[in-house]
Amino acid sequence: MMNSLVILVSGRGSNLQALIDARLPVRAITIISNRPGAPALDVAKRNGLETRVIDQRSYPDRKAFDAALMETVSAYAPDLVVLAGFMHLLEENFVQCYAGRLMNVHPSLLPAFPGLHPHRRALLEGVKIHGCTVHFVTPRMDHGPIIVQAAVAVMPDDTEDSLAVRVLREEHRIYPQAVRWFMEGRLRLSDNHVSVTHAVPDDTALYSPGFCK
Ligand code: GAR
Repeated sequence: MMNSLVILVSGRGSNLQALIDARLPVRAITIISNRPGAPALDVAKRNGLETRVIDQRSYPDRKAFDAALMETVSAYAPDLVVLAGFMHLLEENFVQCYAGRLMNVHPSLLPAFPGLHPHRRALLEGVKIHGCTVHFVTPRMDHGPIIVQAAVAVMPDDTEDSLAVRVLREEHRIYPQAVRWFMEGRLRLSDNHVSVTHAVPDDTALYSPGFCK
């Protein structure tokens, strides 16, 4: 069993709460925020988790911030680093160092709508199916080998907010699932493709992976 997890946050912390609620098989969870006032820090403290703040504004540039972040993260020797609403594009160095053990969740069916305002853009494009993705991180924004996706139907009367609520519910379902698979050693990454060993078929039509041995 793997047992050390670092979660990077910037904002609200609802995915963090979902990860905590999932009671993952981990020994230690540390929360690091790049924003001192992030509500996610309160979520962490309420749940008795160790928190660290590395205030991005106090560093001259991205490189300096990433170096400080990497030093702090590496002190915890995490098996897995999880981005939970961490609104900062990590530098190549950081990404390479944690390749295959750095995960992100994004509220769209990647590769569609990476970056900001995915729900607004999905509505503007008139897509009928939208959703969320958990993936391993590469230096490109919201890009990398896809671990799991969940989809929701877009309704004619959907607004950005109503769509965000339904997608967020799915994020809270698939992110803990993906982290659990990782911790159980069930994710295989090869040629930029991820497979899950012994995934149980799910009878929800819009849910993948269903089954692979
Ligand atoms: C989530 O919807 C997450 O998917 C998104 O930020 C939100 C954070 O909410 N992440 C991205 O857009 C990454 N590009 P949370 O702080 O309540 O988990």
